[in-house]
Amino acid sequence: MGEQLPGRTAPQMTERIQQVADRAFAATFKRLFTFALLYEDSEVDNRVLGLDSHSRVLAVSGAGCGVAGLLAAHPARIDAIDTNPHHLALAALKVAATRRVTSYGEFYQLLGRGRHGDPERTLQPLMSDLPAWVGQYWSANHRRFRHNLYAEGLVGTLQRWLRRKVRVDADFLHGLHRLPPADRLARLSPILTSIERAWPMRALVNTPLFLLGIGVNFEQRQRNLRENRAATMMEVVTAHLGRLAQTDLETNWFVWVGLTGEFNHDHPEAVPPYLRAENHQRALAAPTRVAFHRQSLQRMIADAAPGQWSHFSLCDVLDWLPAAAQRQLLHGIARVGGPGALVLTRSVESGCVVDRAGLSDRYERVEPASSQASEQERTRLYGRVDVYRVLG
Ligand SMILES: C[S@@+](CC[C@H](N)C(=O)[O-])C[C@H]1O[C@@H](n2cnc3c(N)ncnc32)[C@H](O)[C@@H]1O
Repeated sequence: MGEQLPGRTAPQMTERIQQVADRAFAATFKRLFTFALLYEDSEVDNRVLGLDSHSRVLAVSGAGCGVAGLLAAHPARIDAIDTNPHHLALAALKVAATRRVTSYGEFYQLLGRGRHGDPERTLQPLMSDLPAWVGQYWSANHRRFRHNLYAEGLVGTLQRWLRRKVRVDADFLHGLHRLPPADRLARLSPILTSIERAWPMRALVNTPLFLLGIGVNFEQRQRNLRENRAATMMEVVTAHLGRLAQTDLETNWFVWVGLTGEFNHDHPEAVPPYLRAENHQRALAAPTRVAFHRQSLQRMIADAAPGQWSHFSLCDVLDWLPAAAQRQLLHGIARVGGPGALVLTRSVESGCVVDRAGLSDRYERVEPASSQASEQERTRLYGRVDVYRVLG
């Protein structure tokens, strides 16, 4: 039997160890370029947020597809925030290209196909309205567009390794899509087995390196294991692939990028909304003021005055936090947003974070928007996608 520290129970010790591990995770994660693509279905966001020309949005950026997608709704202001400068710089680039590259063909070449013959020359003029550090970042990293942006970063690298093992192409995906959803798992089964057996999957899947590579910290890993009643992350990954197989495979851009390294360029809705022609056209005329903040959401909220934002788009940041920190952040957002403010959040859990935090007197879940969003979310990574309204 291991010794306990005086005054601490075994679950308290486990929680403490997890918190220390997550501090190390956060310090490492913010130095790594993990995501070239936002692993959230930003089509859902614009549907449920209902932005207008008075809206002021505080949005965690991740890889920035969601932030760029907000421009089509012409909100008054967007404050994009992320602790990871790689992701924030990519978000800034996506926003600048969406607003400034007037030729849809050129825009799609850069961010739809993720490659460009002369990325340095194309990116350079987009930097003029962005913070100086973003310009420096892209002068050093424009080569990411030489071959395929979406095969870059830790997630892209992991997917590239897997593709070498499973050798799936666009024809396979079209064929899978034509099968009834119930029959697709049988067709996928040999692929799931080869993923389970493939190096690096087998070697990495239960290590912290894998968590860093897929952007899941220890707190969210525990939530994933609990929710899937799984003992290992391999079981979580397999269950996730099974859920993905049931979706509309023609338009599920997460499946396409994962299995082929490309979007389905033949289908106009098989890309994140900011990459669609009509949204790009609207975004070109957006009067929105956009700022980029390299800091934590907790710091930003603690320092903010009430009334600064009407909408808060949190990605799945709450899942990365222990219960007490979730409560504190939701408290802060209610203070800053004030009555009527909307909060969009995703969680791998099926339980309601507001109820768990004992804040149902401060927030109401917006329905049917939240249930519909949870059903529509194409990534199938989340148990729920919720929109909460701050109560008066
Ligand atoms: C929570 S992660 C998880 C992956 C996410 N579902 C995605 O597809 O990007 C999304 C982004 O949140 C950022 N992040 C995590 N915790 C944060 C915090 N407390 N404040 C600001 N950004 C945070 C990460 O750096 C990352 O870029």
